[in-house]
This record gives sequence, C-alpha cells and structure tokens, in this order.
Amino acid sequence: MIPISKPYLGDAEKQAVMEVLDSGMLASGPRTVKFEERFAQECGVKHAIATSNGTTALHLALLANGIGPGDEVITTPFTFIASVNSILFTGARPVMVDIDPETFNINPALIEAAITPRTKAILPVHLYGYMCDMTALQAVADKHGLKIVEDACQAVGATYQGRKAGSFGTGGFSLYATKNVMSGEGGMITTNDDAIAKKCKMLRNHGMERRYYHDMLGFNFRMTDLCAAIGLAQMDRLADFTAKRRVNADYFNAKIESVLIPKVKTGYEHVWHQYTIRVDKGRSRDAAVKQLTDNGVGTGIFYPVPAHQQGYIKDLLGDMKLPMAEQLAQEVISLPVHPLLSAEDREKIVMEVNKL
Ligand SMILES: Cc1ncc(COP(=O)(O)O)c(C=O)c1O
Repeated sequence: MIPISKPYLGDAEKQAVMEVLDSGMLASGPRTVKFEERFAQECGVKHAIATSNGTTALHLALLANGIGPGDEVITTPFTFIASVNSILFTGARPVMVDIDPETFNINPALIEAAITPRTKAILPVHLYGYMCDMTALQAVADKHGLKIVEDACQAVGATYQGRKAGSFGTGGFSLYATKNVMSGEGGMITTNDDAIAKKCKMLRNHGMERRYYHDMLGFNFRMTDLCAAIGLAQMDRLADFTAKRRVNADYFNAKIESVLIPKVKTGYEHVWHQYTIRVDKGRSRDAAVKQLTDNGVGTGIFYPVPAHQQGYIKDLLGDMKLPMAEQLAQEVISLPVHPLLSAEDREKIVMEVNKL
C-alpha cells in the first residue's frame, strides 16, 4: 500500500535527539530557541514562538490578539476541527462562512455579510498547503478593523504574491508528525508584532516573564527540546521536501484525467500538504476510496464532516447550511503526495485514479 503520508526521519533527526538526551536538558531550552529563530527566518517574520502543538499555537495567537468572551471570529467550516476549537477555547463564538470550491478555502466574497459589531477577527485556513486570497481578506479586515489570525498549520512555506504563510497576520502552524515539517507534536506562532510575541511567550509559560512571578493567567503550552531538535533537523530539508511534493503534484496535474484536480492560480505557490481530488457528479466517493485502497493506493478524507455539522458545534451554534462545504465534504479524496513517493508510486497512483 502506498501510504497517504510518511514522515521522513533520517540520521540527522536521530543524532539531534541523542544529543538532547545526552545533554540531560529535555524540556524547553536552547534547541527550542534555535528552532524558533530558524522558523521565523523561513516565514519571513520577526518572531516565532514554539508551542506544544498547532491547536495551542492558534489558541494563544487568538488570546494575544485580545480575542475573548463576547467576540466573534469568522472562519471556514471546511477544516480540521482545531481551527474552530481554538476560537471556542478563548470564549469567543466561531462564525462560519462557506468556501470557494475551486480553492477549498473560505470564500472572501461571503465574509462581509457575516460581520457584526461583535466581530473581532478572521481566522482563514490555508487548507492543504494553498493560501487564501490574502488581498481580499486584508481588504475586509482593514475596512472593519479586524485582526487576522492565519491557520497556517498545513502551509509552511506556501506563498501568496511572494509572501509566506504566517506573515500576513498572526500565524499558527502545526508540526504534527505528518506535516510538511514536523517535530512529532509541536506548534509555532509567527508574528512581526513585538507585543504579541511577548504575550504569546508569557501565555505559553504560566503568564511568567520573571521566574515564579506570574503576571497573567497562562498555560503550560511549551515545546520540549526533544521535539525542537527533530524540527530543527527537518528545517534543513524543507526546501527539498517541498520541491519533491511539487514534482509529484505537477505529475498528477499533467496526468490525471478522470476526476477534478486542484487548481493553482497565478500568484500562489502551493506546498501540497495534501493533493486533493474531487469525485463529483453523483459518483460514489466510498466506492472510489475502496477501489483505490483495494489496488494499493492509500487515501485520506480531509474532512468528511464540516465543522458546523459536528454534533457539539450544532448544539452550540444551531443548524446552519453551508452548501459548498457540505458538498465538498462528500467529494474530496486526498492522494499520497509526500516526498518519499517513488516514480513508480506516482505512475501507479495516476493509473489507478484514471481507472475510477
Ligand atoms: C488546519 C489545521 N488546523 C489546526 C491543526 C491543529 O494542529 P495540531 O494537531 O498540531 O494541534 C491542524 C493539524 O492537524 C490542521 O491541519
């Protein structure tokens, strides 16, 4: 079976972990600081703040932007649930706006109608490694004085008009084991704003700047040096990983004929965290997944249930109709696009997809 994802762990990662073990300093320490510096450089921002995972990164990014009870945050329903949960954790209300079926991302044209006097921020998700239309989002945000917190969990290295994901607003990244760069579990917040960086650092460490003096209610959302060592080693490979993902995606784009394939518009650089096809026109997605699986091609469904249709979200926010998200949740299938695919794997994937 060609797996949907395959983390790359080489000698550099193993050696880096052994060095941490030998140092006796397993908790957050010098490697975390180095990893933060490297990540900030990669994203073209002044600060990166490491956290325990992508969910905590988004949670702190929202808190540091002053989001809290009584506020509304506009986001997409077509995402991993953590995007919406991070808003709920602050006490704010997520307001979901439907997506553009061509990009899988929030439809900027629908945002303005969802704005109320309580709206404080937009949380766009750069799904599958493809950035949102940041010009349109920035225009609405500027017009209404809203903050932008980018869920860039799947989009490390992606660009929009030459600017990296996580450099438009406050960024939140995941370093979960299957992500384009990973540390097992881990997260990063990115920002150019000194005050937001300072607040995130304090919030992740019990509201503390000076040891055992606590200035605010904070959390333990720190990254360990063990995770940072893995992440740091991975950063050396990011450009190569991304190039390989692009080669794979270009091959699929050129050869797949049986189903709808993802489009990349001018001005966008995709990092292909996922390569996602659509099995549309009433064809059965379950049958397609079964056929691919039976023939050795691993698949993923990201995501089968849009956030607004999850039980506890419905209980909280009531019934909502977001037709595009609901339709795409029935149609999407992600194919293996990871850097460890061989030329034979690519050919096999195309052959099996074209038999659908
Ligand atoms: C779009 C999106 N948002 C948020 C998260 C949360 O990240 P983590 O799993 O590291 O908490 C993920 C990770 O899967 C994600 O894909």
